[in-house]
Amino acid sequence: MDSELVEKVRNIVIDACRQLERLDDYNYHISVVENLAVDLGKRFGANEEILRIAALLHDIGRIKFGPERHEETGAIEAEKILKELKLEEKTIGKIVECIKEHRHEKPTIPVSLEAKILKIADAYSHFKKPLEIIYMRAKNGRKFRRKFNMDEE
Ligand SMILES: [Fe+2]
Ligand SMILES: [Fe+2]
Repeated sequence: MDSELVEKVRNIVIDACRQLERLDDYNYHISVVENLAVDLGKRFGANEEILRIAALLHDIGRIKFGPERHEETGAIEAEKILKELKLEEKTIGKIVECIKEHRHEKPTIPVSLEAKILKIADAYSHFKKPLEIIYMRAKNGRKFRRKFNMDEE
């Protein structure tokens, strides 16, 4: 696996999230999906580089352009990013397929192992969401209280 390449993609995604003030998307969703996908991928012998890059970029369309048809906008955006990073056409194609197929609302079964795994990891991460929302509310509530000196200590 080309770790340097993966970190380049990660930085692009983090920068985009930061610019749009959506770092929580990276911290509580994208990185969660990446870890779940890689865990599953190791069990089934999937390509880790494709899986990590696809997981990092899977919601780039939603983050940049909104939720509607974000598997399509994200696929276009990811292709642009990966071409700039000079990835092989074949690898780009595999990553783009994962992004196009990632939404569980879409009633299609992805062809590649990596796309199947990403779809499952993304769906699974949404089961964890209620817990994340409670955590984020608690965290932000604490920040709010501290900002206005509402904490007792
Ligand atoms: Fe998504
Ligand atoms: Fe997602």
